Amino acid sequence: MEVQTCILTRRSHRKFTAEPVSREEVEKLVSLAAYAPSWKNSQISRYLAITDAQVKKEISERFCPPGTNNAFIISTCPVLIAQTFVKDRSGFERDGSYTTDRGAGWQYYDCGIAAQTFCLAAHDMGLSTVIMGVFDRRGLQAYLEIPEEQELMALIALGRPAGEPAAPKRKGTDELLTWR
Ligand SMILES: Cc1cc2nc3c(=O)[nH]c(=O)nc-3n(C[C@H](O)[C@H](O)[C@H](O)COP(=O)(O)O)c2cc1C
Repeated sequence: MEVQTCILTRRSHRKFTAEPVSREEVEKLVSLAAYAPSWKNSQISRYLAITDAQVKKEISERFCPPGTNNAFIISTCPVLIAQTFVKDRSGFERDGSYTTDRGAGWQYYDCGIAAQTFCLAAHDMGLSTVIMGVFDRRGLQAYLEIPEEQELMALIALGRPAGEPAAPKRKGTDELLTWR
């Protein structure tokens, strides 16, 4: 798919068909997301792929507000990706001090770029995604036994599109862009 088409036609999908996503497809996506730029090429983003229906049901019931979109998405998506990152690398010097006044904020920046790269690659492969930030992060981090040196960042539901969501309106460049 042409890059501009991929950017323009990617949507957040909240309904998926029951068709599974293969391990090879998930591996391909992670290998493509690895090409996202990162602070000093620190490549801190990690991906935990969850396909076990019982685990997804439990995550949906225990870590999302009941009756919400996210509870539905998590219990019905073929693959739930828990995106984590290795702490204290992006934005940091080797001695552990912050490089800039952004402090640890560059970790989140790197994860965002990696997540969007993952989602665009998925769209290019005919798969669909939605990034989710609303869940009990601390509770889920403990439940998933995320290693101490990592932090849970976001969830990405992955599957095959069931329908074509409408594109939410975008701001125009007149509002987004200024020149000096
Ligand atoms: C950091 C982040 C967190 C998000 N969290 C959620 C979420 O918890 N649940 C959800 O349904 N969508 C979530 N979204 C998806 C946005 O609602 C969506 O990207 C936005 O409405 C634009 O729609 P589009 O992705 O189809 O262009 C999130 C997106 C981002 C980037």
